[in-house]
Amino acid sequence: MIGLMTSLDATLDLLHLFGDPTRVRLMALLARHPLTVAELTQVTELAQSRVSTHLGKLREAGVLRDQRNGTSTLYALNDAAMPPKARQVWSLLEGELDDRLVASDRGRADALVRARALKAPWADAVAGQMERHYSPGRTWEATARAFVGLTTLGDVLDAGSGDGTIAQLLAPRAGSVTCLDVSPRVLAAARERLRGQPHVRFVLGDLHAVPAADASFDQVLLFNVLAHATTPARVLAETARVLRPGGAVVVVTLASHDHPDVTAPFGHVHAGFAPAVLRRLCTRAGLVVEHCDVTSRERREPHFSVLTAFARKPGRSNGRRHAH
Ligand SMILES: C[S@@+](CC[C@H](N)C(=O)[O-])C[C@H]1O[C@@H](n2cnc3c(N)ncnc32)[C@H](O)[C@@H]1O
Repeated sequence: MIGLMTSLDATLDLLHLFGDPTRVRLMALLARHPLTVAELTQVTELAQSRVSTHLGKLREAGVLRDQRNGTSTLYALNDAAMPPKARQVWSLLEGELDDRLVASDRGRADALVRARALKAPWADAVAGQMERHYSPGRTWEATARAFVGLTTLGDVLDAGSGDGTIAQLLAPRAGSVTCLDVSPRVLAAARERLRGQPHVRFVLGDLHAVPAADASFDQVLLFNVLAHATTPARVLAETARVLRPGGAVVVVTLASHDHPDVTAPFGHVHAGFAPAVLRRLCTRAGLVVEHCDVTSRERREPHFSVLTAFARKPGRSNGRRHAH
């Protein structure tokens, strides 16, 4: 009973925190741009002391974070580490922010941030939130391609390869790549994309019964495919079977969500996976999980979160990890 009251009290405190229209107004602004107290005061025309008090409460609850930027302090939404219940309530509110006051606040904040950026050198203006800002050529794709240069892969199974986008990225660094997909059309597109690369193979088949011998691969990629599988446990068992001892699987999948209506048209039959569920699926397949966490959250609504898991098949590798 005490436990129940504590949890109930915490939930009521949270509802109280988000029950204040001014706090929601400030959060709506900070979800868009990190801002200082002075900037928030300028945009909202609220008293500075009132803004500071609300920010203090939101920061104490872990909903906001602050960061030094030169001589000032910028407040921002605590995207990476917001307590899960607070995130749930905020997601709910965020979907309902179609409000004239919020829209005009945001217009003023956009103008203010543009003016700020014109005054300061770009890097200074975005220090501490560079990942959220554009600068020419600095794209995630370019970064990913640069990182690929650091990898050395062996025989890779790209399970649910789609049209070979990922295989194309990794093929120059792999001993071989096998693209496996259940769709003949998609596989034909992969074959076209990766034409002229003899160490890349194309196999029509199902992840639930991988048409490959035991211990055939050093790495298995399950990128954006597990939510499509009718029986994910079977897919992970097959993954473990075809991996060589010491081999690794990398899973990228949506974290559990409440928007199956959005993902169903993309062929998803599962509404994502909780980290503990994915971890258990890997462990039950006989794999040793090195990490399994939410690694990113989409900025566009409905803000899907993405899980990345890395697990190994026990045993010693034979050291066969040579790039092509
Ligand atoms: C969202 S795409 C991901 C493609 C690629 N892995 C990527 O991240 O770019 C999912 C792919 O999985 C394939 N797929 C779905 N269920 C499958 C199954 N049971 N066996 C093999 N492939 C499957 C689909 O045909 C589709 O090409």
